[in-house]
Amino acid sequence: MKLDRQLSLLKHKLGKGTKTRYISISSGKGGVGKTLIAINLGEILSENGKKVLIFDGDLGLSNIHLMYGISPTKDLVDLIKGFATIEELPVKVNKNLYFISGGSGFQQLADIPRTQLSSIIMKLHEFAEENFNYVIVDTPPGLNRITIMLASSVDIPLIITTPEPTAIMDAYALIKVINKEEGIDDFYVIVNKADNSAEAKAVVESLELLAMKYTTARINYIGYLHYRKNLIRRIIDQNPIDEAFKEELRESISNLDFEIQEKEGFWSKILKKLGI
Ligand SMILES: Nc1ncnc2c1ncn2[C@@H]1O[C@H](COP(=O)(O)OP(=O)(O)O)[C@@H](O)[C@H]1O
Ligand SMILES: [Mg+2]
Repeated sequence: MKLDRQLSLLKHKLGKGTKTRYISISSGKGGVGKTLIAINLGEILSENGKKVLIFDGDLGLSNIHLMYGISPTKDLVDLIKGFATIEELPVKVNKNLYFISGGSGFQQLADIPRTQLSSIIMKLHEFAEENFNYVIVDTPPGLNRITIMLASSVDIPLIITTPEPTAIMDAYALIKVINKEEGIDDFYVIVNKADNSAEAKAVVESLELLAMKYTTARINYIGYLHYRKNLIRRIIDQNPIDEAFKEELRESISNLDFEIQEKEGFWSKILKKLGI
């Protein structure tokens, strides 16, 4: 098939909207709990027989597998380099929950030929649509192109911050860039490592004040998660599921509406943002 025709078919297919829900987990500052939240969110969403994929968007510095203590044999970088097929990537956590590791030794997205990139995107799209109800995308920290692209393409962009002023300012900076550059208005905020609800609310208020003054972004407060000393031990023991933490997260995400109207699909937006 001619390349132009192939691309236009691909765009048509991706443009129709998808049944799979995409949720990104981002932060301005590293170490705020994104990966831990991604993993626990995956557990929660997969409980009622829904199929969930956690996708490590941190190409090159991937760490989901480290939390689980499982070494994947193939990862996204292998897929990009042509050393793996998509079916080889998912690592099974349980019957309904899988993750795909980002891998290491990543080249620049810009270095990958457009045709190769569009064919990878097509495969990822089809694979996700056929096999998963939810895709949770764990993004790299900070203001980088990959995070901005992923967080502005999903159905639900979650932003994680802690009560530390630096984490709040960095979360604001990320929200501002995604709002200004990509026109995204709704952000869903979780305050992690908080002492109590008053502290978390103060964090959200300062984010709201900044957002209201300088952007058109809406800060939708989802909830907060307590600081729990024992979590560090869990990470060291590579046993990332803490029932109390998970319960709190479950309560927070009950505020989220996953039933989003049909709209342009995730991969279609990615394609556009890559200039394909
Ligand atoms: N609510 C919490 N209480 C205590 N420690 C936490 C909490 N959430 C995350 N952590 C710890 O913070 C560290 C960073 O978490 P991680 O999920 O790797 O962050 P990120 O993915 O944002 O870099 C880990 O050691 C983790 O155990
Ligand atoms: Mg992480």
